[in-house]
Amino acid sequence: MSKKPWQGRFRHDTSDVMERFSQSVSFDKRLYRQDIEGSIAHARMLGERGIIPKEDARLIIEGLENIRNQIEDDSFNWDPSLEDVHMNIESALTRQIGDAGSRLHTSRSRNDQVGLDFRMYLREEARRIRDLLVELLRVIIEKAGEYSGTFMPGYTHLQRAQPILLSHHLMAYFEMFRRDHGRLAGFMNTLSASPLGSGALAGTSFPIDREMTANELGFSEVSRNSMDAVSDRDFVAEFLFAAALCQIHLSRLAEEIILWASTEFSFVALPDSYSTGSSMMPQKKNPDSAELIRGKTGRMIGNLTSLLVTLKGLPMAYNRDLQEDKEPTFDSVDTLSGSLEVMAGLLAGSSFDRERLETATVDGFITATDLADYLVQKGVPFRNAHEITGKIVRDCLDKGRVLSQMSVDELRTFSEYFNEDALKILTVQASLDKKDVPGGTAPARVQDAMEEARAFLAQIDTD
Ligand code: ARG
Repeated sequence: MSKKPWQGRFRHDTSDVMERFSQSVSFDKRLYRQDIEGSIAHARMLGERGIIPKEDARLIIEGLENIRNQIEDDSFNWDPSLEDVHMNIESALTRQIGDAGSRLHTSRSRNDQVGLDFRMYLREEARRIRDLLVELLRVIIEKAGEYSGTFMPGYTHLQRAQPILLSHHLMAYFEMFRRDHGRLAGFMNTLSASPLGSGALAGTSFPIDREMTANELGFSEVSRNSMDAVSDRDFVAEFLFAAALCQIHLSRLAEEIILWASTEFSFVALPDSYSTGSSMMPQKKNPDSAELIRGKTGRMIGNLTSLLVTLKGLPMAYNRDLQEDKEPTFDSVDTLSGSLEVMAGLLAGSSFDRERLETATVDGFITATDLADYLVQKGVPFRNAHEITGKIVRDCLDKGRVLSQMSVDELRTFSEYFNEDALKILTVQASLDKKDVPGGTAPARVQDAMEEARAFLAQIDTD
């Protein structure tokens, strides 16, 4: 068991049970890079301000760089009795460079240290996840382009509603993921302030330069209240929310893929590389990739809930409960990254069955709304037009016919406003063309939306 930094105050050792319970190094060693970067900036500042000898600062920086190499080539010995990543690194430093190492923690607490590390960590991870989102956005727009012109039923209540373009359907997901991309940048405002210098809770008695470390570590400002800075985890909650919502969007897409890949729909064939077989039924090809994405959404929501409940009722300032922010966050980072990569691969390798999609619109009634709209254009109030068209549908259903089998004369028995041109508007193409509003599914409008989306991606490339 290693010597604890608080040994001066204590008469007895920590129990083994407590040590196992309390350690976080098994998972928070993921923060080693940020921890070292933060400590280097802190040591440099302490040296500049004359709070520790400049030579000690130099030794500390060199020592920390060596430790980083040791961690990266796997020769570093992580010791659970030193609790966390912070104490492991600091204690190794002191072992390796002697007295200078014991000066590193001057005017700092693990409370502002962990707040700093975690902000830097999430800043990096959010950036990486945004890159994965961009990859998925690219795949979506490519698929939409590949199938431009292919039409299908659009659904409400999972009942055929109105014809739409497959590309319009796919681009709906583009919009969701574009917003997720924005949200993962938006939460950066919440972590723009460096907590370093807040000490344990009250600030520090040393003449430190908070701006200097903040600048060096890429923060645009320093936190305004030391107690808030060491105990707030707003930035974690915001990240977990953005991540959970993104996963929910993935899950909706996954659900549609699962449904569409069923024999009943047969709208899409999934690539073997993202499917699995059955150990018993030789004919099976299962959409496990999409099911796992859908399934993992539960834990993403759980991770957010877990943090929110941890924060609820915490008194000021730092409490050890806050250590419970790490595992859910690491899990959400990994789960979302994996899901985004899998979805991009799955979608890229999927091929849609144009014929199946298009024949699914031939159910006889999918353009009923267009028939009602026709009457409205002739001057009939919409509510009446809706009722008249409803009666026509009812009549067809009773007689086992479909709308396009009606003659104009027959239509006229329901309303004198029907003319020869009424039958033309019943085709899917006419229905699509008429949805000529911004955001509508008219082919030209969908092309515009795709152009705009491509420009958005090109803009991201240059950012
Ligand atoms: N491992 C701790 C955490 O994640 C670091 C801070 C410990 N601070 C303390 N006062 N015990 O929150």
